[in-house]
Amino acid sequence: MEQLIVELGDRSYPILIGDELIRSVGEHVAPLLKRPRTMIVTDSHVAEHYLVPLGISLGMESISFSSFVLEPGESTKSWAGLARLTEWLIGEGVERGDHVIALGGGVIGDLVGFACSIVKRGCNFIQVPTTLLAQVDSSVGGKTAINVPAGKNLIGAFHQPALVVIDPTTLETLPRRELGAGYAEVVKYGLIDDADFFAWCEAHGAALLGGDAEARHKAIAHSVAAKARIVAADERETQDIRALLNLGHSFGHALEAETGYSDRLLHGEAVAAGMVLAHQFSAAKGLCPAEDAERVCDHLASINLPHSLASAGVNTDGATLAAHMSHDKKVRGGKLPLILTRGIGQSFVTEDYGLDTVAAFLDS
Ligand code: NAD
Ligand code: GLY
Repeated sequence: MEQLIVELGDRSYPILIGDELIRSVGEHVAPLLKRPRTMIVTDSHVAEHYLVPLGISLGMESISFSSFVLEPGESTKSWAGLARLTEWLIGEGVERGDHVIALGGGVIGDLVGFACSIVKRGCNFIQVPTTLLAQVDSSVGGKTAINVPAGKNLIGAFHQPALVVIDPTTLETLPRRELGAGYAEVVKYGLIDDADFFAWCEAHGAALLGGDAEARHKAIAHSVAAKARIVAADERETQDIRALLNLGHSFGHALEAETGYSDRLLHGEAVAAGMVLAHQFSAAKGLCPAEDAERVCDHLASINLPHSLASAGVNTDGATLAAHMSHDKKVRGGKLPLILTRGIGQSFVTEDYGLDTVAAFLDS
């Protein structure tokens, strides 16, 4: 088992990574609890595989628990989902000192984290992420949120978990398409500031997606270490450090909005195409070598991730896509900060380009 720490002073917390850890979560949770009781929140896909082993591990430590199984899918991260969950937690007698366990992907992690930030003015929670996206990104860093009709993740809070337990073997039941979408977020860490890791992804990405346990562990541990470092440096995204995690997200956001935030394009798939567009835009502006943009495109294409507007299933004019970008919650003072790059592993934040310039690029 490998252990990393997110260094946040008295809110620091460990991230444990190891195969089959799902069977010993109880052992790691027990020392945190003020009373031998917890509540597990999950979705029905995840419950089918992992609720029993997690429950057994709690039982082995004499920790009693109740569980709440929600519908899988993005629509659960809603006002209605939040109301049901908070009312359930209160009905279960949750106390401020308790630790609620979020067992699942980013939907469950974001919803449970937000519920725990507000129920009884805040209780603790533990992330047990079961998608690659959640294991390398959403379970770490304390961004929690629900979606509302005006947009995704618009209501939320920063609320850090007390512990993150990552068992890479849980990915063996994850649908291949979801695994690929999570892999885009792995590649992102190489593109942000780690050219050697991008080269590693080029060499080992296919093996990882094929189920190679060593490659899977290395990708998760390396990604999580990068995320922990970034969060420790800029927890609330005020210094243009954490913002780099949004590489590909502004372009991706436009593609997700255009495809209706539906199964037509998963979040990670939109990020994949968005990262290619960010590199191509940077190359078009003379900021980044064209060969670097081609390498990014070729790698994502080689593992069947969207790498262009067409492969993302979008055939819309630039002005319409740029208009979607203008609704991004990252807009500040009317300007959208873009994450661009000087080359692989050299991303930066800039407000130098207006959306009209982006629209013209998307039409070119
Ligand atoms: P998800 O939670 O919807 O999971 C995807 C699907 O996989 C679901 O059907 C789920 O039931 C199923 N599943 C999960 N684990 C499984 C397993 N091991 N075996 C079989 N099926 C499994 O999707 P996601 O991609 O994990 O998360 C997406 C969400 O994460 C979005 O709402 C996004 O906004 C959020 N997000 C948050 C952050 C953050 O920093 N908080 C970062 C990125 C994304
Ligand atoms: N997923 C982006 C962030 O955590 O900041």
